[in-house]
Order: sequence, then C-alpha cells, then structure tokens
Amino acid sequence: MEIMSDLRSAQWYSGHDRNAYIHRAWMRRGLPGSAFDGRPQIAIANTASDLSPCNSHLDEVAAAVKSGVWEAGGVPHNLPVMSLGETQVRPTSMLWRNLAAMAAEELLRANPVDGVVLLGGCDKTIPALLMAAASVDLPAVVVPGGPMLTGTFRGVPLGCGTDVWRLSEEVRAGTLSEQAFLESESSMIRSRGHCNTMGTASTMGLLAATLGMTLPGTAGLPAVDSRLLTRAHETGRLITEMVAEDRRPSRVLTTGSFHNAIVALAVLGGSTNAVVHLLAIAGRLGVPLSLDDFDRVGAGVPLLVDLQPAGRHLMEDFHRAGGLPAVLREVADLLDPDAVTVTGRPLVEYLVDAQIWDGAVIRIRQKPLQPDAGIAVLYGNLAPAGAVIKPAAASPHLMRHRGRAVVFDSIEDFRARIDDADLDVDPDSVLVLRGCGPKGYPGMPEVSNMPLPAKLLEQGVRDMVRICDGRMSGTAYGTVVLHVCPEAAAGGPLGRVRTGDWIILDVWNRRIDVDLPQYELDQRSPSEAMTDSLARPYRGWEQLYVRTVMGADTGADLDFLVGSSGHRVARDSH
Ligand code: FES
Repeated sequence: MEIMSDLRSAQWYSGHDRNAYIHRAWMRRGLPGSAFDGRPQIAIANTASDLSPCNSHLDEVAAAVKSGVWEAGGVPHNLPVMSLGETQVRPTSMLWRNLAAMAAEELLRANPVDGVVLLGGCDKTIPALLMAAASVDLPAVVVPGGPMLTGTFRGVPLGCGTDVWRLSEEVRAGTLSEQAFLESESSMIRSRGHCNTMGTASTMGLLAATLGMTLPGTAGLPAVDSRLLTRAHETGRLITEMVAEDRRPSRVLTTGSFHNAIVALAVLGGSTNAVVHLLAIAGRLGVPLSLDDFDRVGAGVPLLVDLQPAGRHLMEDFHRAGGLPAVLREVADLLDPDAVTVTGRPLVEYLVDAQIWDGAVIRIRQKPLQPDAGIAVLYGNLAPAGAVIKPAAASPHLMRHRGRAVVFDSIEDFRARIDDADLDVDPDSVLVLRGCGPKGYPGMPEVSNMPLPAKLLEQGVRDMVRICDGRMSGTAYGTVVLHVCPEAAAGGPLGRVRTGDWIILDVWNRRIDVDLPQYELDQRSPSEAMTDSLARPYRGWEQLYVRTVMGADTGADLDFLVGSSGHRVARDSH
C-alpha cells in the first residue's frame, strides 16, 4: 500500500515493508483498508472513568466526536488516559496532575496520531490534558465535559462544593441538624457532569475556551445538554481540519491567549487553582507567564458573574444567562484581539453577537459585583516568591488586618486542635497552616481554607484571615492567603513563624508579613514539628515528585517537564 501523505501517522502506516504491515494489520479489527490510505488518525484522549464520577459520561461524548471525525474523513481512536476523580483520590489529586500530563504526553507521542481531542471535566483532567497537548504540540482541541444540573434541597437550589462547606459549618455551629445534613447528600448531585459552582472544573473548562482551545460555544454547556453532543460531533470535524492546516497548540496558546485567560479568570471570579494550572501550561510551551501577570492583567477587571462560591447562582444559570460569550463580550476591549482559537479565527470574533439574558447572573460592565476582581499577588517577608489571594471571595473588612498567629504544623495538627475549647484564638487571630505545599504534603492539597474554630463559629464568626502554602478548593471562599512561596518544606519563612507572632496582611498594598526584623526571622530554625510531619517517600512516583516538583509560583510542574518536547519519535524498534 503506497500512501501519499505527509501526515505523521504515515510514518507508521505507509509503505510495503514489514513495519508498515505490522502497524496496519494489528489495527484492522473492523477498520476498513481505507483507514490507512493517508487519512488523519485522531486520538480521543478520554478521561472517562467510573472512579472519576464527574467524567463518567465522557464515553458518550467520545462517540459523538468519533462520528464527526469519520464524517470529515478522519479515523478516530478512543485513547483512555489517566483520570483523576477529585473527591475520591487520596491524599490529593494534585499529586498526580503532572503524572497524568506526562502519561498522556507519552501516549500521544508514542502512537500513530496526527491530532487529538481532549475530553476532560473534573478539576485536574483538563489542565493535565492541556499540559500534555502543549508538550507534544500536535493539533489539539478540548471538549469540556460540562457541569451538572442544579440540585434542590428543601425547596432551594443546592450547589455542590460550596454548599457542602456551608452546610457542614452550619452543623458545627449548631444551626443545622446532622440528620438534615445527611438528607441533603442525596439531593446534591442531580445529573452527570462536574461541579456546578465556579470551582476549578468550571473555571478550567471556561479558560480552555478563552485560551482558544475549544470550539467556541462549547464550554459551559451542561453535561446533559444535547447540544454538548452536537458540539462534540462538530469538534470531531474540526480536528481533521486542524490537522490539515497544522493548527497546533503553539499557534493558539500564545502570550495573548494567556492574557485573555487572566481577564476571564477575574471577570468570572474563577478558582485560584487556575493560577497554578495556567502557569504550568504556559511553562510547557515556553510562553513567558509569571505570577505577577495575574495581578497586572487582572487589575481593574470587574467581577460580572454572580456564581458560587463568591456569589449566588450555579453553572446551569450561567449557561441560561448567556454563558462565557456574554460575559467576555462585556470586557471585549480588555482582550487581545489577535489571539486565535482552534478554528483559526480570533476569539473576539465569536463575541460580537453574544447577549446577556439574565442580568442577575451576568452583570453588565456598568453594574459589576466588584470593580476589581483580579487575583492579588502578595509579597513580603512571609512570601518572598509570592502568594495569592482571591479578593472576590474574601471579606472586605479583613483585606487589611493585623492579628496574632495561631500556627499549625500539619493538617493533622490542625484537625487535632482547632476545636479544642482551650485553643488560644479569637476572631482577630490569623490561622497559619504549613507543610502543605507541593513538596511538603506532598501534592499541595486543598486545605488552605481551614474551617474556623467551633467556639468562634458559635459566636457568629464566619471568616478569619488564614495563611497556608497549600491550595484552596475552587468551591471554597474566605480571606485566605494561598500558595505561599517558597513553601515551608522548601525552606520558606512560613516554616519559621511561631504562635503569637503578629501577622500583617495588606491586600491593597500587596503585602503579607510577619512583624519581625528580618535578621530575627532568618535566625530562627524551621519548626521541628513541621519538619517531622513532612512526607519522605522512598520510592515510586511520590519520590520522583518530591525530588523534582517546582514551586506553585511557577505552576508546580516537575522541573524536567518544562518546555515543549514535540511529537517526534526518535527510534523504531520493529
Ligand atoms: Fe469533580 Fe468537583 S469533584 S469537578
């Protein structure tokens, strides 16, 4: 069989030799001979898994993609890739984001693939797939799996994530019975799909679109909306066109598209986890993106979306109100007009006809929920390499605050003592949790939004300043300083703070400090209890991770995975 094709897959399938024979023969199993006549071979990187419940419907989405690929003259291949169910895996899914990215990257490189459709949903799945696609740099397009529908409990909407925090705090405060709390459990998850707040999954699906990596109009469609399958089919057609035009991630994921993503992150009130993920994706391509860009580009971007965790509504409402195009149209002047999407056309072209259908969910620019919603990047003697806070989720009266530190050396230490009646803590105290960064835990868990002491909850206290080198769930809220860098386990000064030190938070001036002379802070030794609590993995992935993971300020990727490595396969063993 002579194949006239310059497609990558022709290196496997073209020719009359034994290698080509083997590659074709083992793939036949129902495929027609024409499947190897020079048609683009399209992988569908599929994170469907029964243990990733937010992604469990993706096989159906994959089938729709397949039909579109066939229709456009390509050959689709389902490629199950590592999946991470946020609520199920322990100790934290972030420990494996880089492994999922690395595994997907290697699978794509190793196989006869010309382009890839990326199916993700739950928090880490879209970031990991984008990191992989950026590294391999084959034509790639994302189909976000979409959020679940809104649940109801006792006649009122019940979101997943944020409402869990709220209800559990109500139980701890004694204002909700444990029985009512357990009753709500079966009402929360109403359909297939990922969390329906503006948590990490919703944020990353919408940012994938803003980066230009989805077919416009796809992100934000509820998982059970029949239009998702239509878009998936159209995406199957699109990827074959992208292969023909060699439209690769490096042509879409540019400085301009990351600029747009930062604007979107602010205007949506998106998850702080997006900071780490966007930095990691940019790192895979060598796009210069720094923590400071989030503060600089996000400054003055208004919050226009009234969604939990900061607001009231849920993703089903957001979609009904006009969704991503409607909100981006309000800030179109802040977007890079040249940043293109996977269609080859600029993102801003797709915003022209967008409309807001419900002004209570998506505000117009002149009536923002907050005038300045960008992620604030803080520096100071507690965070020489930076820390972040999400002002949209914080309490205004705590944005400038001085309080006495109450320090916890691990999450276990925190859990053991936080509800102790004798804990010396008051509403002005600053809760400090350390040992929760990428190296320290390891994996940088979402523990930074520490539950408040029960005795303060009973007094009606609902927010306190909290500081941690870990992450915060995208569905959580509060005045929480996150991603403190360097982390305590890497020698950061957070490891040298002591209970009783005075902490000064000044979000307006972008400062986070402990009120100590620098020489005194430098002279102190790291907390022994913290050091003793750090994980010391002796083998396998965890050991590799702890040895090579970088700080959150650069995306918490592994140091040897930074930079695009392309799709070339060096040797053929057949
Ligand atoms: Fe999967 Fe929230 S648990 S998106």
